[in-house]
Parts: sequence; C-alpha cells; structure tokens
Amino acid sequence: MSGFDSHLQQAASLAGEAQLRFAGLGKTYPNGVQALRDIELDIQRGEVFGIIGRSGAGKSSLLRTINRLEQPSSGRVLIDGIDIALYDEDRLVELRRRIGMIFQHFNLMSAKTVRQNVELPLRVAGVPREARRRKVDELLQLVGLRAKHDVYPAQLSGGQKQRVGIARALVHDPEILLCDEATSALDPETTQSILALLREINQRLGLTIVLITHEMAVIREICDRVVVLEHGEVVEQGPVWQVFGAPRHAVTRTLLAPLQHGLPDDLQARLRPHRSQPDDALVLRLRFAGTGRQPDLLALGTALGGRVTLIDGGIERIQGHALGNLLLEIGGSPLDAERLLENARQLADDAEVLGYVAAV
Ligand SMILES: Nc1ncnc2c1ncn2[C@@H]1O[C@H](COP(=O)(O)OP(=O)(O)OP(=O)(O)O)[C@@H](O)[C@H]1O
Ligand SMILES: [Mg+2]
Repeated sequence: MSGFDSHLQQAASLAGEAQLRFAGLGKTYPNGVQALRDIELDIQRGEVFGIIGRSGAGKSSLLRTINRLEQPSSGRVLIDGIDIALYDEDRLVELRRRIGMIFQHFNLMSAKTVRQNVELPLRVAGVPREARRRKVDELLQLVGLRAKHDVYPAQLSGGQKQRVGIARALVHDPEILLCDEATSALDPETTQSILALLREINQRLGLTIVLITHEMAVIREICDRVVVLEHGEVVEQGPVWQVFGAPRHAVTRTLLAPLQHGLPDDLQARLRPHRSQPDDALVLRLRFAGTGRQPDLLALGTALGGRVTLIDGGIERIQGHALGNLLLEIGGSPLDAERLLENARQLADDAEVLGYVAAV
C-alpha cells in the first residue's frame, strides 16, 4: 500500500467511514437481467456481515463487485473511501490480495497436495520459498490441518477441504474475507466447526467477513448485521437480533420461517376459534423481540390470573437479546380474553389469542 493510500485509509477510519460502501450500486448483465438496483450499504471494519435472500436475489452479484469480479453498471463500490473502479491493473491485483474468498465447492486443485494448494497464490506472487513454507505452516496450524499437509484433496472430508480453502484465502493476510455459501455443502456438525474457525479468524486477525448463506442458523450464529436482498434491492437490514426478532419484510419472514416454531399438531387439532364451554382454556402466544423485555414467569402468572401452563416455544439469546415465542395455556382465569391480551402486552412485545382448548 502506498503512503498516500495508508494516509487516506487512516483519515477514513478516523472519520468513522465504513470500510466497504456500496453507493447507488446497480448491475445489469449483458442479457438484460437487472441483478442489482440502487444498493446503499455500509460494512464496518471487523464486522461479520451476512447477506440473505432467495435464489436469484443478487447476493453473489453483490459479493463479486467487492473484488471486481463483477463491474457495476451504475453507482460505486468504495473501499476505505476509494472507488475501486478507478484502480489500474496493478492496484487491482493488490486489491484482490487484500480480499480473500472461499466457495461452496472449495475450488481446490485435485492434483496438488494440501500444502501446494495453499502455497499456490504465494508462488504466483513470487514469494521466496522459505517465506512460503513459513506462511503455509502457520496457516495450516491455524486451520488445524498441520498433519494433513501432504495429503491430496480427494482424501479429505468436506470440512477439511473447506479448511484448506480458508487457509488459501488467508495467504496474503487479507483485510476482508468473502464467503459465498461456504458451509452449504457441509453437515451441521462440520458447519459448526467451520463457523467457529471463521469467528476465531474474525476476532484474532480482525478480519471483516462478508458472507452469503441460505442457512439462517449461520447468520444467527456468527453475523453482527444482516441485509436482505429481493429482486436486486435491499429490503431490510440491521443487527441480527433486530431483523430476526422483528422481521419487517415479508421476504425476511419467509426466509426465517424454518427457525420459527409452528403450532404443535396435537394442539392444532384441539384448538377452537371460540370458547364452547365456560371452563375452556385460552391459548396465548407471547412474542419477545429482544427489545429488553425478559420473560418474567412470575409476573405472567400473576397478570394472567389462572393456571398458566407453558405448552411450547422457547427463548434464545442472540447478541445478548432474548428472542422467541411462548405458547401458554391459561385455564380458570377470571379475566376475559381482551383483558388477558392487554395484560400480556404489558409483559411481552406482542401477544395474540390463538384460540381455546377443552380443559383437561
Ligand atoms: N453472468 C451472468 N449473466 C447473466 N445473468 C446473470 C449472471 N450472473 C447472474 N445472473 C442473473 O442475475 C440474477 C442474480 O443472480 P445471483 O447469482 O447474484 O443471485 P443469488 O442471490 O446469488 O442466487 P443463488 O442464491 O441462487 O446463488 C439472477 O437472475 C441470475 O440469473
Ligand atoms: Mg449465489
């Protein structure tokens, strides 16, 4: 990096400027497909930033503008305040070294060993042999593959292949790591271990991570903020706890549906829209959206005034915020439905009456 650039970068970070900024970014492919429209987005240094959206929403197109694998049709991509479209060939090579990338299918060379795969970008960059050896050893240690350095990719599990991919992406000490569906080909347990590794890299090396995934649990697990794309547009963005706790856009709700707790079948079968017997119990759903309200069970019992049974649901913590749904069955309360709802809404972020079930 030139003295001028480092000066600019310093000035940018002092001004609280985003490390990555998309300003009015648009992308139309030669076939006329408008993949991105007027994207306005900031990504801060050191954050783990998630991109979600349905298939074809423009996620990969957006990610690929960051290292200029795609050229914008309109608008700009700024890194440390500088429009990367202005980079000449030499600076583009330098930019791509500052940005590592990992892929769903690992993209390893099958005829090369683990060591040779990781070493390749260093060879291309003309790094001397001894320095290459040191760097590769250090990275294989980091990703836990020291013992496998002489093995060929075919002899590795999916998780191990992705570890090689991660080591290779880190050879030039990048500032940004791009991950396009990096855990989609892995089983849940291996996904967890790769996420733990990414988190460690983020924290130990201070690397900014931008990742695309179809797995909402991945976002919940490691992202700080998330953006939702639909038809090439940003429809929602914010801290993960906020977007997951109170999704505003219909697309977000659809994407998050797998994480939502549906009504259990047996309860659904027993549920009636109206009270048919005076002693029917009322079924209430309470929602906690991470706004600071805690599910206070004693207070709920008192406010609902009856036998309060927790029948389903749960609370999870995302970034220190309590989020979730509780399904309660309330029998023998002297309060009518309206009053119950009113009281419940004092204690939860939202409440709704789902119906009535016969008392058992
Ligand atoms: N090189 C290309 N040429 C023409 N159209 C493209 C090209 N790449 C992507 N598209 C189109 O642009 C749109 C956005 O594609 P993109 O790959 O960015 O979506 P995505 O959100 O990553 O989808 P997925 O989740 O399936 O990976 C799609 O309609 C796609 O068909
Ligand atoms: Mg994609």
